[in-house]
Amino acid sequence: MTCGSACGPPLSEDSRRQIVVSSPSKLNLFLEVLARRDDGFHELETIMVRTSFCDTLRLSPRDDGRLVLRFSDATADTFRNSVPLDQTNLILRAAEALRNRTGFSEGADLVLHKVIPPQAGLGGGSGNAAAALLGLRRLLGLSVTDEELHEIAAGLGSDLNFLLSGERAAVCRGRGEIVSPLKLRGRYFFVATRPDQGNETNRIFSSLRVPPEPVSCAPLVQLLERGEAAGADQLFFNRLTDAASLHNAAMRSMMQEIQRCSRQRVWMSGSGSTVFVRCQSYTAANQMRRFLQQLLRRDAWVLQV
Ligand code: C5P
Repeated sequence: MTCGSACGPPLSEDSRRQIVVSSPSKLNLFLEVLARRDDGFHELETIMVRTSFCDTLRLSPRDDGRLVLRFSDATADTFRNSVPLDQTNLILRAAEALRNRTGFSEGADLVLHKVIPPQAGLGGGSGNAAAALLGLRRLLGLSVTDEELHEIAAGLGSDLNFLLSGERAAVCRGRGEIVSPLKLRGRYFFVATRPDQGNETNRIFSSLRVPPEPVSCAPLVQLLERGEAAGADQLFFNRLTDAASLHNAAMRSMMQEIQRCSRQRVWMSGSGSTVFVRCQSYTAANQMRRFLQQLLRRDAWVLQV
C-alpha cells in the first residue's frame, strides 16, 4: 500500500524542534459487511471521508528516552476521565510499535489536544495513532517508509490506514486497512452529534448477521466522483446501524428525534455512536448545528469534507 511522500495529515514545525500534527476524524458514508473471517474480524467494504474535525498532537524531544503522553491544558475534563493515557492508549501502542520496528532510543513528549469523542465511530483514537507515527518519524528523523508505517498501522486497528494515508476519501476493504483512494468532487457539510453512551465496536460486530446479499458501494462511488452530492446521500448506508441501535437505545431515539424534527435523513458513522446529517452549505450546517444543540441539549459539530 503506498501513499507517496504526501502521506498523512499536515505537519508543522516550530523553532524549538516541536512538531504539531493534525489528527483528523473520519465519517463512514457507506459501510457493508461482506463476510465473517476466521480470525474473528469481518470483511468490509466502506467509504471513509476525512473531516475537518481534528484533534492535535504536539511532539517534542525528551532526554530520558521515555515516551510520555499527556493532555493539553485546554482538553476538556470529559476526555480526561474517559481516555486513558497509559500503555493502552493507541498513541503509545503506535509509538512502541514504531520503536520496535526502527529501534529508536530517543524519548518524546506527546501532548494531545482532544476534541473528538471516543467510542464514537469517528476514528479519533486511530487518527491519534496515525498522527503519532507521522510525528515521531519527522521529529526523530527516522528512516521508515510510508509502506512500513502502513504495516505498523494495520497491526493496530482497522481505521488507521485511511487516516494515515492523508486521502480525502477512499473505499476501504479487508478489515478496513486496504485503502483505495476515491476522487471525491465537491464539498460536503455534515452535522454530527452523539449520545453520552459510546458503542464498543467488537460488541456491535459480534451481534451482527452477515447479509446474504451484500450491497455494493459502486453506485455511490460513481455519484461521489461525479460530484452529485444530493443523489449520493440517497445511497449512504451503514450495515451496522440496526445492531448498534439494539445496544444503544439513546442513539436509536436520537436518530428518530432528529429525523422527525429536522426532516433530514440521519446516518451512523462506523459502529457509532455518532450520528450525522448532510447539509447543503456551511451556513446551513451551522443553522442545523444550533437547531440540534437546542433540540437535544447537547453538543453538535460541523464537519466539513
Ligand atoms: O480494528 P479495530 O480496533 O477497530 O476493531 C475493534 C473490534 O471490532 C475488533 O476486535 C473486532 O471485534 C471488530 N471488527 C471486526 N471487523 C472489522 C473491524 C473490526 O469484526 N473489519
